[in-house]
Amino acid sequence: MEGDIPIELQQKIDALERRNKLLEEGLHQAERLRQMCDQSAQELKATKALLIHQGEVLEARVQERTQLLLAAQEDLVRKEKLALLGQVADTVGHELRNPLGVMNNAVYFLQAVLADADASVKEYLGIIKDEIAEAERIVSDLLDAVRTKPPQPEDVTLAGLLQQTLRKCNVPPSITVHLDIPTTLPAIRVDPAQMHQVFWNLITNGVEAMPQGGTLDIQAHEDPVDKTVTVCIKDNGGGIAPEHLGKLFQPLFTTKVRRVGLGLVVVKNLTQANGGRVGVENMPGKGCAFTVTLLTAADS
Ligand SMILES: Nc1ncnc2c1ncn2[C@@H]1O[C@H](COP(=O)(O)OP(=O)(O)O)[C@@H](O)[C@H]1O
Ligand SMILES: [Mg+2]
Repeated sequence: MEGDIPIELQQKIDALERRNKLLEEGLHQAERLRQMCDQSAQELKATKALLIHQGEVLEARVQERTQLLLAAQEDLVRKEKLALLGQVADTVGHELRNPLGVMNNAVYFLQAVLADADASVKEYLGIIKDEIAEAERIVSDLLDAVRTKPPQPEDVTLAGLLQQTLRKCNVPPSITVHLDIPTTLPAIRVDPAQMHQVFWNLITNGVEAMPQGGTLDIQAHEDPVDKTVTVCIKDNGGGIAPEHLGKLFQPLFTTKVRRVGLGLVVVKNLTQANGGRVGVENMPGKGCAFTVTLLTAADS
């Protein structure tokens, strides 16, 4: 019959169609496999990124914990040193105060009776007096560093307090002091003798940081919201080496030859005992500024 396809041909066509179908299925599966492959690659990439991120988070956490541990260890060392100093200070400090007092009186007496002595005698008596004062200061620092006496607060003006401190400081002529305390500042409520010691230590450190001379800026400003007054004592000496910053307030840390490294411990202890806080802004090579923030008197 016309149009009839011979049987062998029909069988070939069927076979080809089956193969074609199989091929199409194969292609389809290949496409699905490719898609799965793409998806897996993306998931792998995301997992890798997550792993890297988690690794970084972990690393940061380890670093943070290490810092905390180091800080805790340093704090422990500081406390151990203070405890040890406490024992030494109690015995040696008190024992030294008496002979120093007696020596001071003796020099005072000699200066009075030798009023007509020649210049070199007077000079040596002056040296002895200065060195006794220095020794007394070290003993006071030692005692204050380990045992902070409870403050006896009074309402005082910052300007008055700083002027009084400056009069006691040994500022060489090569150093210019700019004292800029606004007269409008409210009174502060602190133990004047203790804060005097704080400012004395900071001014002396500033002076000692500028052996070739320089400028010491002493400024103050009020924060009416916090009800605080901040004093800033800034020098233009060499600043503090970054690796020393963490040790500043540790007892016995000093970079000076004839010093004991108790000044800043006293500064911190006495300021905190008076309800204040100490800050430091370091400008390596250009100087540094110490700030002391204190509470204003209640009725100012
Ligand atoms: N104004 C400053 N400029 C540079 N370094 C300073 C300053 N103040 C303090 N320091 C550093 O801090 C150390 C500790 O100071 P301090 O506790 O007063 O002890 P001391 O003056 O006896 O060394 C100093 O030896 C010095 O290295
Ligand atoms: Mg000092």
